[in-house]
Amino acid sequence: MCGIVGYIGYRDAYPIVLKGLQRLEYRGYDSAGIALFDDKELKLCKTKGKVADLKEKLENEIDTSGTLGIGHTRWATHGVPNDVNSHPHVSNSGNLVIIHNGIIENYESLKKELIKRGYKFHSDTDTEVLVNLIEDVIKKEDVKLGKAVQIALNQTIGAYAIAVFDKAKPNEIVVARLGSPLAIGVGEDEYFIASDASPFIEFTNNAIYLEDGEMAVVRRNKGVKVRKIKDDSLVDPYIQELQLNLEQIEKNNFDHFMLKEIYEQPSAIRDTYRGRLLAEEGIIRMAGIDDNLERFLNARRIVIVACGTSWHAGLVAEYVFEDLARIPVEVEYASEFRYRNPIINSDDIVLAISQSGETADTMAAIKLAKEKGAFVFGVCNVVGSSISRETNAGAYTHAGPEIGVASTKAFTTQITVLTLIALKLAKAKGSISNTDYHMHLQELETIPQKIEVALKQNDHIKEVALKYKDARNCLYLGRGFNFPVALEGALKLKEISYIHAEGYPAAEMKHGPIALIDEEMPVVVIATRKGHYEKVVSNIQEIKSRQGKIIGIVTEGDTSVRDLADHVIEVPDTIEALTPLITTIPLQLLSYHIAVLLGKDVDQPRNLAKSVTVE
Ligand code: F6R
Repeated sequence: MCGIVGYIGYRDAYPIVLKGLQRLEYRGYDSAGIALFDDKELKLCKTKGKVADLKEKLENEIDTSGTLGIGHTRWATHGVPNDVNSHPHVSNSGNLVIIHNGIIENYESLKKELIKRGYKFHSDTDTEVLVNLIEDVIKKEDVKLGKAVQIALNQTIGAYAIAVFDKAKPNEIVVARLGSPLAIGVGEDEYFIASDASPFIEFTNNAIYLEDGEMAVVRRNKGVKVRKIKDDSLVDPYIQELQLNLEQIEKNNFDHFMLKEIYEQPSAIRDTYRGRLLAEEGIIRMAGIDDNLERFLNARRIVIVACGTSWHAGLVAEYVFEDLARIPVEVEYASEFRYRNPIINSDDIVLAISQSGETADTMAAIKLAKEKGAFVFGVCNVVGSSISRETNAGAYTHAGPEIGVASTKAFTTQITVLTLIALKLAKAKGSISNTDYHMHLQELETIPQKIEVALKQNDHIKEVALKYKDARNCLYLGRGFNFPVALEGALKLKEISYIHAEGYPAAEMKHGPIALIDEEMPVVVIATRKGHYEKVVSNIQEIKSRQGKIIGIVTEGDTSVRDLADHVIEVPDTIEALTPLITTIPLQLLSYHIAVLLGKDVDQPRNLAKSVTVE
């Protein structure tokens, strides 16, 4: 939530900060702002709306010169999105300028104190309180900016990634993080600050990722000094070489990041299993599991914690783990788990799934599980993210950057990793026959190519989308391994087209939701020729008798559903446990096309942000 970016060096800061904000816009996009300093004058521009609105306003209003700049793209927490609440915020003296991603939970009590001491506030934000608190420390204690930031942060409760500068000392930017990510790009005599490395990738491959509870003073020409916020101890910063390239973060020839990422799934899945899946030899190599195999084999149960799409991947994993590896699994919303005093023991394994690796609820669930003595295993996409560092062991999905707010390739690569784990454990436990094991491995290797075939249905899916784009509601049904896919299909439609959609296990219809069916109701049914096929066909018949409009996701060559459904979308056949990897594809494309036809902002749907770092 919220993207922050900064530059200090010898180049013009404006184009770097602006481009950086465009790349970070997936983190929040209800308002944006930039502050520039050119050795004489502070130039500030902020606005409600997107970075494009900021650019237009800013280039008309202010001179954009200056080699120091900070910028912010916001997902509102405290105070509605408007010009005043947008960041950067300036202290009462006009000297200190701050950007902030996170929440200062005790801002009201701090604000009351500051008001008593004569401070005035113009916005409703917690951030304006923080910048004045820092100013107050400078005045009271007569300390430099770095020290003042440290003292002020030690008085706060909450989460933050901040960058702050003092226009009276324009050779340094002070940054700090707790609970929200912050990377420092290290160039030759220049430094970049950002929520992730994408804003500075064309300038440097070297980055310092601050750890939670660390702050840094970044000095023009003089390097970066990192210390712990709590006890002031100096930290030797680890400069990491980035693996990111520009191609991965550009749209290339696609209209939207979401479409690009849907089409990237075959290669993303290949990247996920490369070096891990040796189908010929019948081997799955995963260091995080190999190193902890005994623990997994002796686990009483696996408790999966995640949010949103990652939670749906967790539900697929429940079916796969229990079916193949015979290990009991429970899947919990991280946001519920963290507050419900769950029973967790040291022989439980908690498996946390997160694309961003920054989701606040998932992070809190992990901390709670660790406190209760559980071993926590992470499945994350973003390398070096907070969750990947907090967990005891883990496996990356290697999907590459996912920029569209609606998750697509993260979901299928999470399922791939989780399936590899389940198969590895099944083999080690002896709960799968040799023949079945080898069959699953070989079939998994063919999935990317089968997804390529499924993607060829794109034009047909677009025609179906045209027919149903004006629907007010939509139901998604699936059974077994494909029940979580139905939930995921409904979530995709809701979040990017704003059409109300629900996913159900097909057999649950008769217990209530069937009352919703009439000739206006499109029902997407996953009816591949595996598992409970005949039962799903009966469910389709029940919907048909009530005039519902049926869109069937079927196995190539299917005729039974074709006779009943209004439309069918064919996908290649595969082993039952692997069907979610393929049936998901048409559902992603269907929601994409409906949203595009409705003129919605597919990559940046309203009210959402990619990485949910607030609870
Ligand atoms: C939906 C979506 C969200 C995320 C959820 C968890 O398309 O993207 O539901 O899946 O916010 O995010 P991560 O996986 O980053 O923890």
